[in-house]
Amino acid sequence: MVASRRGSGSIVLPSGQTMAFHTRTHQEEDLPHATKKTMADHLRKYESLFTLTPQRMRMIVEAFKDTLELGLQKPKQIVPMIPTFVFGYPTAKEQGDFLALDLGGTNLRVCLVTLQGDGKFEMTQSKYRLTEEQKQDEGQKLFDFCAECLKTFIDTNYIDENGQTTLKEGEMLPLGFTFSYPCTQNRIDHGELIRWTKGFGAKNTEGRDVGEMFRKSLEKYNVPVVMTALINDTTGTLIASHYVNPRTKIAVIFGTGCNAAYMENVRDIEKIKDLGIDDKAQMAINCEWGAFDSFEHEHLPRTKYDATVDEQSNKPGEQAFEKLISGRYLGEILRLVICELIDEGVLFLGQNTYKLETPYCFETAFLSLMESDPTDELLMIIGIFTHFFAVETTLAERQFFRALATLIGRRAARLSACGIAAIVSRMNYLDEGCLVGADGSLYNKYPGFADRVHEGLVDIFGDKGRNIITHHAEDGSGVGSAVIAAMTKIRRDAGLYPNV
Ligand code: GLC
Repeated sequence: MVASRRGSGSIVLPSGQTMAFHTRTHQEEDLPHATKKTMADHLRKYESLFTLTPQRMRMIVEAFKDTLELGLQKPKQIVPMIPTFVFGYPTAKEQGDFLALDLGGTNLRVCLVTLQGDGKFEMTQSKYRLTEEQKQDEGQKLFDFCAECLKTFIDTNYIDENGQTTLKEGEMLPLGFTFSYPCTQNRIDHGELIRWTKGFGAKNTEGRDVGEMFRKSLEKYNVPVVMTALINDTTGTLIASHYVNPRTKIAVIFGTGCNAAYMENVRDIEKIKDLGIDDKAQMAINCEWGAFDSFEHEHLPRTKYDATVDEQSNKPGEQAFEKLISGRYLGEILRLVICELIDEGVLFLGQNTYKLETPYCFETAFLSLMESDPTDELLMIIGIFTHFFAVETTLAERQFFRALATLIGRRAARLSACGIAAIVSRMNYLDEGCLVGADGSLYNKYPGFADRVHEGLVDIFGDKGRNIITHHAEDGSGVGSAVIAAMTKIRRDAGLYPNV
């Protein structure tokens, strides 16, 4: 972060690139720039487009509640409300060593988690960055890559001082596989991929059982692992956060994608009535709420920039809610506004703006950096625009960009509050209050994101909204996955619902 208000320095961006910044004492006078007043006029226009009133938010919450209910009643709904076969919360006494594999939006992670009971754990992990090519290639190859990484991890972590394996002959290690895409499950170790999200498009995977595909890869590479549970990151986050803090009742991921999970009463999950599960049992639901308002676009306040993001995505019409909120899209929304103002001749007249014309070149991390720029002259913003896009900006323009980032970031947080509020009212958590375990780069790195979610909750519920508090969650895809693998083993050993 910038330490002084003037001078030069450098910062390291989340992408690993280093960015230098420097203070300039005068503006470039030889370039035509928009006046302060013009920028203020434009800002007013965007304010009205991106601002959500409390009344509008309450309407969204109502529609959201109906959608959640519908997804629980019937299979194959747009918001699928997926029963996960994770029965109830952990006791925090779960113990043992578990492997966790996490195929997220950006990385593949392999973890060895030692659950020590009492909500305590230890973890060792390795991370591998996924390439764009892997995301679009044959699905089976993606699972082969997972199996290979897992094998390397086991070979390096399960050895003694003499380099000999510590595994017993024929020993199979239990593993929780966090696969954070919508999968219909009819057992905990099975999952039919409904559709790829977050820009993935690996071939021959949609409609197939990814659990089975993964098992095939494990066999191919002879990996001594048995996949105990297939888990969504939100479900993992719910369980991991509850493991360390039992007041957690809802989990939300604000990362490349956006989604939530919570614990539902089995008697209220109409669509699994025929499975014969005890009415008094509870089961975690992976909402897949990113799909809210997909295709129909009836409830969400979409601007033309949102419509463009959607049309140009690899999945037009889908993930309508997610496309207004998640880290994958916010930078792109801001870029589209800037491009419109360039086309209208308002911004960067006489400058070469080709670098800004590449889709997705404007990272969401830039919005965070712009909002957190502590300098009067907005040096960080100068740095972003000169270093990455080779354009000169005036102070009025930079103030405008920062205000625009605030509008887009705040809208994302307030829409998220609507989703949380829908679950809170459905489950009647408002009076007693609850914690919401939250994770993902947007929540963890975007300045003020959590505060804006909280403000949104107060706008929806009034003062009682303060009873709902988000907090940084435990690592759901690692720890949560291990706890779920442990819970499943205990359930299976006890012979409870052995078929699921
Ligand atoms: C996308 C996925 C969902 C995941 C979320 C957060 O919405 O569809 O399964 O939980 O991203 O990673």
